[in-house]
This record gives sequence, C-alpha cells and structure tokens, in this order.
Amino acid sequence: MCGIVGYIGSRDVSTTLIAGLRLLEYRGYDSAGIAVAATGGEISMRKRAGRLANLEGVVGELPAGSVAGIAHTRWATHGAPTDLNAHPHMDEHGDIAIIHNGIIENFAELQRELLAGGHTLSSDVDTEVIAHLVEDAYQGDIRAAVAAVLPRLRGQWALVVMHRKEPGRIIAARREAPLAVGIGDGEQFLASDPVAILEHTNKIVFLRDGDLADLQRGGVTFYDAAGELLTPTIETITWDGAAARKEGYDHFMRKEMDEQPRALSAAMMGRVSSNGIAIGELDAITPALAAARAIEIVACGSAYYASLTAASLAERLLQLPVRVTVASEFRYDPPPLSSASLVIAVSQSGETADTLGAVRIAKSAGATVLAIVNAAGSSLTREADAVVLLQAGTEISVAATKSYTSQALVTMLVSLDLARRAGKLSAAEVRDWSAELLTIPAMASAALDASDALPDIARKYFGAKGFTFVSRGAGLATALEGALKLKELAYIHAEGIAAGEMKHGPISLLGADHPVVAVVLQSPVLPKLVSNLMESRARSAPVIAVLSGVGEWASFATDAVVIPAARHEIAALIATIPLQRFAYEMALLAGADIDQPKNLAKSVTVE
Ligand code: AGP
Repeated sequence: MCGIVGYIGSRDVSTTLIAGLRLLEYRGYDSAGIAVAATGGEISMRKRAGRLANLEGVVGELPAGSVAGIAHTRWATHGAPTDLNAHPHMDEHGDIAIIHNGIIENFAELQRELLAGGHTLSSDVDTEVIAHLVEDAYQGDIRAAVAAVLPRLRGQWALVVMHRKEPGRIIAARREAPLAVGIGDGEQFLASDPVAILEHTNKIVFLRDGDLADLQRGGVTFYDAAGELLTPTIETITWDGAAARKEGYDHFMRKEMDEQPRALSAAMMGRVSSNGIAIGELDAITPALAAARAIEIVACGSAYYASLTAASLAERLLQLPVRVTVASEFRYDPPPLSSASLVIAVSQSGETADTLGAVRIAKSAGATVLAIVNAAGSSLTREADAVVLLQAGTEISVAATKSYTSQALVTMLVSLDLARRAGKLSAAEVRDWSAELLTIPAMASAALDASDALPDIARKYFGAKGFTFVSRGAGLATALEGALKLKELAYIHAEGIAAGEMKHGPISLLGADHPVVAVVLQSPVLPKLVSNLMESRARSAPVIAVLSGVGEWASFATDAVVIPAARHEIAALIATIPLQRFAYEMALLAGADIDQPKNLAKSVTVE
C-alpha cells in the first residue's frame, strides 16, 4: 500500500531515499516523509501531505552529511493525509523515528496505556504508538527495544526504526507486510518493494514473517521470530530499468496497454507451442492436481475479474466445481476445504493482503495452493505450493492493464493444461487451442489499433450520467472490468452487469444520457445478448459495442469497435483492450491523474 525506503552508507542519504520513493510513489501517494540521522545522532525530519513533489520541495532543508535515513510514501489508513499524520513518526523527545506499513489493530488500547503513562501523542496515526513503546523499552540497544515491543502489537507491519543515540543503525521488522533488505558493499538498503533499490544492488533478502534485520553500514544481521540468528537467503533479482520509465509515453498506463501483445506472448513462452500446451511449473504439484475434487480461485479487483474469464471454461473442461471468490470474503467465510481442494490465487503484486489471507486459510485446511502472479519474489510466490509467473514485466500504473490480460490468459492456460493432464482434452483439441492461443498477441495488436476509434467515442459520451457495461458468458468478466476501469480512472459511475439482469432493475437507469457499453462476442448466447441490447435501444440508450466476429448482428450498436473474431473466451480477453482505452480517454477528458487515481494504491497490503 505505502512505500518504504531506507539507506545507510556514504551516498547522499536524502537524494538516495527520494529517488527510491519516486519508484514507489505509485504504491501510495497521499503524503510522504523522510528522516535522516547525522553522524552526531540528531534526527531531522520533513513530512508533507500530497504528492511526493511537495516533499521534494523541502528536502533541501535537511542537513547534508547524514549517515542513514528512512523515507515513506503513504496511503492513509488511520488519520487523514496531513503533514502531521505522514510518516515518519517520533517519540516526544525526537529520539526515535519510525515508519510503518500496515495496521496496528490494538492501537487504541496501546494509546490509552501510553496516555495514562504520561506520554504525549501528537498524531491520529496508529504507528505513533510504536515510537512511544520503543522509547519506554529502550535501554541503549535499539534492536532489543524493537524486539521487546513487537510481541505487544497486533496486526500487520513492515517497520523501520532509527534511534538518535545509534545513528549508524536501522532496525527493520515485518509481519504480513512486505519488506526487503538490499545488500550493498559498505552500504545497505531497505525497501517495501525492491524496485526502489535495484538500481543500487540486486542482492536482495526478502524478510519473512517475524524476521528482524539489524542494518549497519558494514553489514546486516538477521534474526528470526524467536530472536535466533538467521542465515538469510540472498536472491539475485534482475532489474528491468525500462519498465520503470515512461519511454516517451505521457502515462505508464498507455505504455503498459501497448505492451500487451509482448506480455501475452511472454505469458505463453515455453508453455504453448504448435504441438500443445504444457506448464512445467505444475509438475511440482502433480499428485495434488490428480486428487483435486474442486477448484477455488481467489483474487481481488481486476485480478478477480480476470479469473472469471476462464472459470467456466475450466469447469466445463474439467467437470469439477470451479468457484471464483473475492479473497476478502473467502478468508472469513471459506467454502469447505480439504486436501482435495486446489486453491488458485491470482495476483499481480503477490502482496495483496486479502489474497494472502485467503491463501493462509486454504493452506491451514490442507488445500494445495497454486499462485498465478506477476511479481517474482513476492510474498505469494513464497507461500504457494507452486507458482506460475505471468512474465508481464513490472506494471507501474495503478490501473491493471497488461497484468489483467496476462492473468486472464494464464488462468486459461492453467485450465487447459489441467484438462490435458486429466485426459479431458484430446490431442487434436489441444492442438486447436494452441493454434488459436498463439494468435492472441496479433489479435491484441489489432485491438490496440481498433482502439484508435475511442477518443472520438469518449468525447461523444463524456458528460453522460453513468454507464452500464453488459455482456453474457465469458464477456461478462470483461464488462465488469471495463466498468471498474472507468470508475477508478475517470471517477465516473459505471456498473458491470449480466445483460439478462437488466430487465430486473438496472434498465430503469437507461436513457439518452446513460449509455450501455456492450461486449458482444461470438458465443451460443449471442442472440440473447442482442435481444437485451435491442431492449436498451428501445429505451433510447446509446449502445457502444465492442464486437468480435458478430457480423450482421451488429445493427444495435450506435458506436462500434471491431476486434478480431475468436472463441468467446479468447475474444473476452482481447475485448478488454478497447475498454481500457475508453477509460483512459475518459480520464484524460476528466483531467484525472491517470497513473495515480485518487484514493487508490497499486498494491493493497492492508485488509
Ligand atoms: C485494478 O486496476 C486495480 N489495480 C485493482 O483492482 C487490483 O487488480 C487489485 O487490487 C488486485 O491486485 P493484485 O493483482 O496485485 O492482487
């Protein structure tokens, strides 16, 4: 949700931290702050509400010659996004500076205790209690003080802490919120996402739940939850610098949309060929796949809709119940789970708190967990029994685009490979699927070209009261995703709905000022969908249609974007591309911040 960076070493501390924050700003951007420690120990801090640029404007006021520092970009949970509530937080003496991602669930109880003990708390933020607890626990060793406080906290945290009396030291700890240490030569780094530090070091240690790291310039010492010394696993991460640059585009979103043909091709690399489909990563869980009697897919937001695209295909092919559930519901109201359950968790970041929560529930019930994830090295990749990476490359824009189409595709590939392994697809059927799958990147390019009609369509309907996105079958997931894109990017109310449900209520909304956006694919339910669209036209609602192989059926459309003809599951995936562009163009017209929509964050690491 929020972003953390830390640094100890001889570079300019503020410059290094701000550069790291720039790479993390997409993860949370309602306020930002920095604290640096001078050789003599004094801790100086600056915090500003709003975008990182506001903090950058005052960071020059910090003293030069610092030896260590921590910095943060925030997505507010407790307390409004103000200067005061921005991190870092300090105790009343200015001795301790602390940054925290996550939520301290028992903060109110701890706050009462601290106030009764004579402490003065100055912000509305849960994090501040930790600074005061560490102050009370401190007896000359900041690591010991932090270790003593952690058992008192309930909730989730990635924490970084500095003490005025120990300027060359940063303590880091994590529980259910990501935090990584970057190992340098005579310098050490910290980040909630390694992307912030990879240009300096690619030697990364991902802290595990309960781990604590003691960073000093000459090296880092790691401890486990029991306080025992730990030998860390140092991973070497490949740095895709280009992914973090706009490379001539005005927005990351537009760049990432255009990257879809390449991302979709990468998703199939080594998995789909003219001879068939085989996902080697599934071999590790072969016995569990054979034993599976039900498949539960868990995900959030766009990842949830992407999973829906292939769910009924999987059910049809495997002849097993396949259910897709929003992870935040699944984790507190799980279906019956056992060792005969295969749980597939789908996520771009691999750090979504609800998805991780659902996975832990599934694992504790004995289920096998397969992760379909973009971010290599993320928490989800470490917790799952098997991992299929999307290979879409880093996605910076908060709105999921290339990760969405890649998630839909990889979920489809997994479904097909499960069916192949179970002997439920003949060799000829597999070859037919492969041949069509391999045309997906070209179809995505054609859909990008067709999307050039969208700026005019967006201008025509900008100002409408709202939009209803409809479809039936596999296209329904696309309609739901199209509505989500329009809401999150252009702040325009939109609803995605099964077209057959229109007559049960939502049709009342329709009129000349409330268009329908329809995903119309070649499928057995096409005539039914067309009837629903004619009903919409009869209520004066314009119908903006994304059409795949529909031909003479298209007379209902007031505006049409034609994409290549394909099986409806594949066409559903391709049809997302014009809807992404529609939302993008509407957001431009609305003057919205496209890459960082208000109130959102790229990776939702709190419940
Ligand atoms: C969509 O544009 C959003 N960024 C959001 O719905 C996202 O898909 C959701 O938060 C899940 O994220 P994940 O894929 O990283 O788990």
